[in-house]
Amino acid sequence: MSKLKLGVLISGRGSNLQALIDACAAPGFPAEIALVLSNKADAFGLERAAKAGIATAVVSHRDYPGDKPAFEAAMDATLRASGVELVCLAGFMRLLSPWFVGQWHNALINIHPSLLPSFKGLDTHQRALDTGVRFHGCTVHYVRPEMDEGPIVAQAAVPVLPGDDAHRLADRVLDSEHRLYPHAVRLIAEGRARVDGDLVRIDGPVPELAAVVNPPL
Ligand code: GRF
Repeated sequence: MSKLKLGVLISGRGSNLQALIDACAAPGFPAEIALVLSNKADAFGLERAAKAGIATAVVSHRDYPGDKPAFEAAMDATLRASGVELVCLAGFMRLLSPWFVGQWHNALINIHPSLLPSFKGLDTHQRALDTGVRFHGCTVHYVRPEMDEGPIVAQAAVPVLPGDDAHRLADRVLDSEHRLYPHAVRLIAEGRARVDGDLVRIDGPVPELAAVVNPPL
C-alpha cells in the first residue's frame, strides 16, 4: 500500500520533526516525509532532515515583506510540487491565513503543547503552573483559521508534579509530544481518523493508545 506523503513545516529545533522521521523509518509505518519546509534557513530541523536524506526547502517570510499572500502561495506551491498530501505543523511559528488553511482543509494538522481548548497560544507551561491544573499535556488537531482551534485527533495528558517549573514541565510534555504526533499521523494515514463536524471519530481499535495517554515518566 502506498504511504501518505507528509510535508512537515518547521521554524526551529525540530524535535517533533525528529519524532516523525524516526516513526517513518520504522517498517510498516503508513506515512513518509516528502518534504521538510522551513521559513528560517538556520532552523536546526533542516539539519535533522538532511541527515535523514529527506528533501528540504526554505521559503522565508523575509523574502515577502508585507506580502503574506505571496509567502503562503510560495509555500503552497512548494508543498504541492513535492506531492504532499498531509501538512504537519511542527513548531512552525507563523500564523497561517484562512486562505492557506482553506487550501489544506482537513489535510493540515498541528501539535500544540497543552490540553486544548485550555491554554491556546504561547507560554503554555507557565500558564498551566499559574492556573494550578493537575494535568497538562499536548494535542494534535486539524487546523482551522482560528489559532489553536480545530477538531482534535489525539491528546496525551501528563501530571503536573510538585516542584515543577516551566522547564521541567515542558520537558515532560515534549516527551509526550514525541509519542503523540506519530500516533496521530498513523491514525490519519491509516484512514481511521474521520472528521465529523467539529469532532474527529476514530474508527477501529486503538491498541497503542495506552502507551500514548499518560505515558510513564
Ligand atoms: C513544540 O512544543 C510544539 O508543541 C509547539 O512548538 C514546539 C516545537 O518544538 N508547537 P520542536 O521544534 O518540535 O522541538
